[in-house]
Amino acid sequence: MVKICCIGAGYVGGPTMAVIALKCPSIEVVVVDISVSRITAWNSEQLPIYEPGLDEVVKQCRGKNLFFSVDVERHVSEADIIFVSVNTPTKTQGLGAGKAADLTYWESAARMIADVSKSDKIVVEKSTVPVKTAEAIEKILTHNSKGIKFQILSNPEFLAEGTAIEDLFSPDRVLIGGRETPDGQKAIKALKAVYAHWVPEERIICTNLWSAELSKLAANAFLAQRISSVNAMSALCEATGADVSQVAHAVGKDTRIGAKFLNASVGFGGSCFQKDILNLVYICECNGLPEVANYWKQVIKVNDYQKNRFVNRIVSSMFNTVSGKKIAVLGFAFKKDTGDTRETPAIDVCKGLIDDKAKLSIYDPQVTEDQIQRDLTLNKFDWDHPAHLQPLSPASKKDISVVWDAYEATKDAHGICILTEWDEFKNLDYHKIYNNMQKPAFLFDGRNVVNPQKLRDIGFVVYSIGKPLDPWIKDLPAVA
Ligand code: NAI
Repeated sequence: MVKICCIGAGYVGGPTMAVIALKCPSIEVVVVDISVSRITAWNSEQLPIYEPGLDEVVKQCRGKNLFFSVDVERHVSEADIIFVSVNTPTKTQGLGAGKAADLTYWESAARMIADVSKSDKIVVEKSTVPVKTAEAIEKILTHNSKGIKFQILSNPEFLAEGTAIEDLFSPDRVLIGGRETPDGQKAIKALKAVYAHWVPEERIICTNLWSAELSKLAANAFLAQRISSVNAMSALCEATGADVSQVAHAVGKDTRIGAKFLNASVGFGGSCFQKDILNLVYICECNGLPEVANYWKQVIKVNDYQKNRFVNRIVSSMFNTVSGKKIAVLGFAFKKDTGDTRETPAIDVCKGLIDDKAKLSIYDPQVTEDQIQRDLTLNKFDWDHPAHLQPLSPASKKDISVVWDAYEATKDAHGICILTEWDEFKNLDYHKIYNNMQKPAFLFDGRNVVNPQKLRDIGFVVYSIGKPLDPWIKDLPAVA
């Protein structure tokens, strides 16, 4: 029986391995992690991450050919194929701080693999890593190998949170990069055979190592760039009276452009886009390509601009101050159908409002108070470390309350911000909400989930990103 071990039981390691176990009953899959609480949760009824469809997949194979364990060394030593899906945070100190990837966790996993291995192994990069990481990993493994042969493959993960199981069941493509040597090609074939259990052969792309590593960074940069492009247009729409949804629809009808990923919003978030682009920028700089670096840097700058612009719209609309005012925040996760808050734009928007002394009442159907408090008090980039190694958050923010109901959050509020596109926000009883708010009642829709005209008819002053402006807002400055 082929044995697979995956180091890192996170948003990537957990779902990907669960799907491999489901689709390959003849393979034993063990997911290991240094975080005891994560593994305990994976072995419980309450999985550590929320992902539609994940519970069913795990229930079907856990205890049969899918296991979760903290006995990292034993399972690594027994495995034929080892996936490494550990954190690759942005460095916060030293050379490349604020941009380069911190490979501490990757390196320690590689050293451990070399230490405990007693047979030949295929080591698969699942984490997103800088191009050429495989070379460094290869050096660590071979210099400590005691005669054992290691083949390194790059097999970046393209799943999107919120649709992870769907994406894993039916991926647009699976990418496998390896050495162009007979042993490298043999390793590619072995990994391809795993995916071939359910992925059509023409969707499995095989490349050299560096193309595979770079393709992941490139794909995320292209995706984020689309969002920044439409968000940049949203500012121009507001200035000219165009409607960004109509512009995006018209533009997206061009088959060369395509309709997906053209929704204007308060900005992109998630654990990957910003981190991967910063990483790409750093690699370009290190390779003497400042123009290319600056091109990609602009994608992040526009994203930051969009978040600031949103806060400025709120403050300037509400008589230039939100001090002491209750603002209801609907949605905190970085997108719908996930409880993940890593780099969610809600963090920057909430911090902007708190700086202006607003009192926030936050509701998200999947995010806990503890998580929100941590997010609003942790330093930039500190979230991307194993849970037990994260700095303890300082005293919690006093000016926020977290509630479990949109009606509670909006009661007596002066304004509402919608920051995640949860479906339930489309169908709230906005008449009831309006009646229970202070007047004038403001609504700032950062995800274009409500129909602005319908809400204006109720009496709200409405701001929707990239849409023709409410007469109330029209003559106010867009940027403070
Ligand atoms: P995560 O933070 O959810 O999970 C990483 C896990 O690795 C943690 O549970 C941590 O305790 C564990 N870990 C760290 N060092 C370890 C070690 N030495 N031994 C054992 N366990 C260790 O991170 P996530 O989101 O799963 O991301 C993992 C990698 O995949 C990152 O490189 C990320 O950029 C990449 N990625 C993430 C995607 C996403 O949607 N979250 C999508 C595609 C790639």
